[in-house]
Amino acid sequence: MRVLVTGGAGYVGSVVAAQLVAAGHEVVVLDNLSTGHRDAVPPECVFVRGDIRDRAAEVLSDGVEAVLHFAAKSIVPESVARPEMYWSGNVGASLALLEAMRATGVRRIVFSSTAAVYGEPERVPIPEDAPVRPTNPYGATKAAIDAALTEHARMHGIGAVSLRYFNVAGAQDGRGERHTTETHLIPIVLQVALGRREAVSVFGTDYGTPDGTCVRDYIHVADLAEAHLLALDHCTPGRHRVYNLGNGTGFSVREVVEVCREVTGHPIPVVEDGRRPGDPAALVASGRRARDELGWLPRRPGLAAIVADAWKFHSAAAGAGPAAAHAGGGA
Ligand code: UFG
Repeated sequence: MRVLVTGGAGYVGSVVAAQLVAAGHEVVVLDNLSTGHRDAVPPECVFVRGDIRDRAAEVLSDGVEAVLHFAAKSIVPESVARPEMYWSGNVGASLALLEAMRATGVRRIVFSSTAAVYGEPERVPIPEDAPVRPTNPYGATKAAIDAALTEHARMHGIGAVSLRYFNVAGAQDGRGERHTTETHLIPIVLQVALGRREAVSVFGTDYGTPDGTCVRDYIHVADLAEAHLLALDHCTPGRHRVYNLGNGTGFSVREVVEVCREVTGHPIPVVEDGRRPGDPAALVASGRRARDELGWLPRRPGLAAIVADAWKFHSAAAGAGPAAAHAGGGA
């Protein structure tokens, strides 16, 4: 099948593009390279540099049958500081993509949604029918796009799947996280192990969690990517279905640092800091629906294995080894 991957030069998008190519799909990547990297795009893909608003209709009309939509701004603290950029870049661009799909008759879409739509959940693990109450603009924009997909499925007959990612980490085949300004916990901790930072700041130690730090559900990017290929086969016309993607196990910030110490052998000093605006205390997925309906089973659920793959990627990139050539970034 010929598929369009928006944001295919980013971290998750490039890993999915590589898996799509390996599964025999023809892949067109549309990315404006605002946060992604050209060298993360698999060489077998057709690459179009540009914005969705300008180029989507032209790319879609060239035989594309389905869209995987990753292109987005995805940094929670940045969204708190610059909400307008998130409403335009995420919601505005996604509406333009849906319009281009209508105009060209493309009727299947898999969308990168997020656990951030749930805000501060009433209970964990979080099922898909939990209330959508985002606590930051990033989550609010993704929730708005999810709502638009529901309406487009109902009124325009598209088949849509939203995949709500929990905390993605790790790397596959030399494609990993490479943000210009890094804000995510695991890459930051690994920068300390690489000697690029003195210490990691722990944002908030007074949450109502067992050790007072935030709890998250970390999922290997390769497992996450596999769910996208399954989701492509579950885009049913007239239906919008939502799936959480996580391992169902929460780790606190302190536990993540401890696992990183074990994997890297580095002492990784920590500095206790205040809460980061917009951070919910605990986000852990119920992955039951994805398992039951998509047949998705994460094959790399252990945090040590996830961190080990991230560590391999970051140390190779630091030493300009083979992984550096395909280093991915963005969202
Ligand atoms: N953290 C620190 N120190 C740091 C960086 C992060 O203590 O230097 C903490 C954060 O405060 C948070 C936890 O580590 O409690 C994880 O933070 P990340 O920035 O790695 O990830 P987030 O949970 O903020 O967000 C990520 C994705 C979102 C997604 C969310 C879902 O970026 O897109 O996971 O769980 F919505």
